[in-house]
Amino acid sequence: MARGGLSASSLLPILLVVLHLIPHTSQLQSSQSQTLLQIRKHLNYPTILSHWNSSTDFCNTDPEPSLTIVCYEDSVTQLHVIGKEGSRLLPRNFSIDSLFTTLGRLPSLKVLSLVSLGLWGPLPAKISRLSSLEIVNMSSNFLYGAVPQEISLLKDLQTLILDYNMLNGGVPDGLSALPALAVLSLKNNSLGGPLPDSLSTMENLRVLALSRNRLTGEVPDLSGLRNLQVLDVEDNLLGPQFPRLGNKVVTLVLKKNRFNSGIPPEVVSFFQLQQLDISLNRFVGPFPLLLLSLPSIRYLNVEGNRLTGMLFENTSCNAELGFVDLSSNLLTGVLPKCLVSDSKGRIVRYAGNCLATQSQSQSQHPRPFCRNEALAVGIVHRKQKKGSAEKAVIASSVVGGVAGGLALTAILTWTILRWKNMRTVVRRPPRKLIAEKASTEFSSKLVSDASNLFFHLNALFPYYLRFVV
Ligand SMILES: *[C@@H]1O[C@H](CO)[C@@H](O)[C@H](O)[C@H]1NC(C)=O
Ligand SMILES: *[C@@H]1O[C@H](CO)[C@@H](O)[C@H](O)[C@H]1NC(C)=O
Repeated sequence: MARGGLSASSLLPILLVVLHLIPHTSQLQSSQSQTLLQIRKHLNYPTILSHWNSSTDFCNTDPEPSLTIVCYEDSVTQLHVIGKEGSRLLPRNFSIDSLFTTLGRLPSLKVLSLVSLGLWGPLPAKISRLSSLEIVNMSSNFLYGAVPQEISLLKDLQTLILDYNMLNGGVPDGLSALPALAVLSLKNNSLGGPLPDSLSTMENLRVLALSRNRLTGEVPDLSGLRNLQVLDVEDNLLGPQFPRLGNKVVTLVLKKNRFNSGIPPEVVSFFQLQQLDISLNRFVGPFPLLLLSLPSIRYLNVEGNRLTGMLFENTSCNAELGFVDLSSNLLTGVLPKCLVSDSKGRIVRYAGNCLATQSQSQSQHPRPFCRNEALAVGIVHRKQKKGSAEKAVIASSVVGGVAGGLALTAILTWTILRWKNMRTVVRRPPRKLIAEKASTEFSSKLVSDASNLFFHLNALFPYYLRFVV
């Protein structure tokens, strides 16, 4: 008896400890469960949510890559729903406005990923009611219209990702009012106009990804952004000056724009730079040899510019450099020994320069070609005129003599090449599912102008429905 009593009293604390160790499961407020089921209805019952029902314990289901719900206490703090790639537009009775009204009933929502779900419509201003939002990823949908200014009311917003949509208008000016914004990614949309100067004040910005839009003009001075690591503006109409950046930059992609300045000397002090792609622009002036030996550089692409200068056999390279493309510039001299193909699987391209090389596959121009082209570029550059080929011709004929004749031939060749090049660079509208589906029945004007979509949805839907049914 005494023995039994002793053991019971000694077991009690153990029992309490064990009970305490059982994970504390949070039971979602039933109103929030209703809200989630409502969201599923708005999303037209996607397959990923097919197992949801009124007794689902939303807070305690195993996270999957395509569906994750995170709760804190009895509220949803994270909602990730990732549909199938290439998902079609939601049907006509979808209302993005109603979806956001419903999302507004999850007041603790900090992270929202609604990716590839066929969402369409303009991003509603009432997104600002989701005032706890820190991370938003609504990539690969059919959002159109402008990014609403009200987004700047989301004071805790750190990451805004709206890639692969059909947004137009400009990059909103008000974003600079978001003190915590670190990642802004608006790739593959139809954003136009110049970048707002206020970008230069976004001190916490770490990633600015704006590739494949129609942005024009100069990149604002970003040299004050001490945290900026990634600037990707590939395939826009930006230029002509090389952007001003802080020296912490890790990835810099200026590919396929309208830059035609020289490469500023500070670039060789970007000691963390791993990836530099300035290809398919019209950069001029000397190619800084030090780019090859930047301490962190792995990927260097300067293809298709008009960079001049001489390479030397003993020019040194960073050992980590895995990809170098110097092709189609005006470089002379010899390919550095450190770039001659080795067994490390490094890719090196240098065709279309005037280098002394035995390589059959990477054919070179004769030396005078680069000299004359460089001369032509120099004249054009000094004059700072667009389409100044004729003026360059006049200027070069003033030089006279054999050199002038050679330069003239070179300029004409260059003009023709440039013209050919420009033809291949003509932009295509974003290639989206809707574009593919629509192009058979609708004018390409409609496809290329996302704003028109709004007015043509009624025309589009019968076709879409026919396709689905
Ligand atoms: C849209 O219509 C479909 C079919 O009529 C229906 O099942 C669905 O619930 C409707 N969606 C909404 C959000 O009302
Ligand atoms: C947005 O979410 C999708 C799906 O999870 C993911 O693949 C993508 O990388 C995210 N975008 C960014 C920029 O993190």
